[in-house]
Amino acid sequence: MQDRDTFGSKFGVLVAMAGSAVGLGNLWRFPYLVGTNGGAAFIFIYLAFVFLLCLPLMYSEFVIGRRSRANVFGAFKVLAPKSNWSIVGIIAVLASISIMAFYSVVGGWTVDYFFKALTFQFSTADRNHLDVIFNTTVTSTYKPLVFMAIFVVLTALIVIAGVKKGIEKYTKIMMPLLFLMIILLDIRALTLPGASAGVSFLFKPDFSKVTSDTLLDALGQAFFSLSLGCGTIITYASYVSKNVGIVDTSIKTAVSDTLFAILAGIAIMPAVFAFGISPSEGPGLVFITLPYIFVQIPLGSILAILFFFILFIAAITSSISLMEVAVAYLIEEFKMKRLSAVLLSSAVVLVLGTLCSLSQGLLSGIKIAGRNFFDLFDFLSSNVFMTIGGLLSIIFVGWWLKKEAFKDEMHYKSKNLFCRRYIDVTFFVIKYIAPIVVFVIMLRGWLK
Ligand code: TRP
Repeated sequence: MQDRDTFGSKFGVLVAMAGSAVGLGNLWRFPYLVGTNGGAAFIFIYLAFVFLLCLPLMYSEFVIGRRSRANVFGAFKVLAPKSNWSIVGIIAVLASISIMAFYSVVGGWTVDYFFKALTFQFSTADRNHLDVIFNTTVTSTYKPLVFMAIFVVLTALIVIAGVKKGIEKYTKIMMPLLFLMIILLDIRALTLPGASAGVSFLFKPDFSKVTSDTLLDALGQAFFSLSLGCGTIITYASYVSKNVGIVDTSIKTAVSDTLFAILAGIAIMPAVFAFGISPSEGPGLVFITLPYIFVQIPLGSILAILFFFILFIAAITSSISLMEVAVAYLIEEFKMKRLSAVLLSSAVVLVLGTLCSLSQGLLSGIKIAGRNFFDLFDFLSSNVFMTIGGLLSIIFVGWWLKKEAFKDEMHYKSKNLFCRRYIDVTFFVIKYIAPIVVFVIMLRGWLK
């Protein structure tokens, strides 16, 4: 066996896992979904899905990684020798690479906007002008490529340093900072005139807005937000020592992720409503609507700097977890040095990212299955690789791996009666219920 790097502390594991989970999805999609799907009613449904369905999925991936102590591909080889299960590993590597392709482009926009905020370039409250700034930012040919490259290089520099000395060391600083900064934004948002109306819009439960679409949106968002199905949890878990509790770490990760999403909602939506803007999601929300608001409120230009820094940190802590999936695979399966593995992964991401970036302008005419490159990689990762990877991982744990192995990894024997029953029920969910649920998420992604 090669000497494998490991995380140095429980806190290190938690911040790395939470860093992967907290990302753009928490900032630009969750608040919007809450605001338009019945406020607290949505949060309630989302929490139920996170705890009843997604946590068992997270435990499954954790068990696969920690038991095998190998990269996503090697993990299945170790746990199911002489079988074809390692294909799941390939799917996971493809998932992480295709997410990185468009995530890096958005990461680049974030770096660009951070510098724009630093140099006070949002000095006009003219929405059209902000539209133009955004369009120029993303449709130009060279500039977004440079910013994307900066984002990828920063990711690579952290990953090159290794698990303990790179990923753990930096997420330990970045994650607490991220929470601190979003709380500062919350305080500002809550002290705006008209904020209380926004808060009540966000949190007042309105079950009449809950439709079957709401349920599926909540489920899909929970799955994506917890970074399930793309090998990041399997890879990180392979660096976790046996004495770290899987249930404990997974619950803390899910709680941090959800808490951050709610704090993001408080930071964003009340301000949007206070200005009478109808809520939107995605790039339009963070790169157009929010700058429009920032220029109009006291201390706004500082808030803009803070906000884009938050967006950047949230994106890069996710990006390093994605790169580590491919890097661990290359190191262990192709006996590459960490440095070469990072260089190769970065090169692949830069090429695919370039296609995604240019598809906003120069190459916007090229469509594959009706989608430009950016949307194609988004679609492939969320609706194909992640869901298939997640589905197969859960079937693997429920039907192939022995229940004894699962229980052993979950420290069943040393637990009290309540925890043992919980683990039994969880295994039942993994075996019979979760596969159906992930299948439904997958079908929906295809039919949408
Ligand atoms: N959870 C991330 C977000 O909310 C997105 C994501 C999905 C991700 N799968 C991932 C991030 C895998 C890192 C690794 O934005």
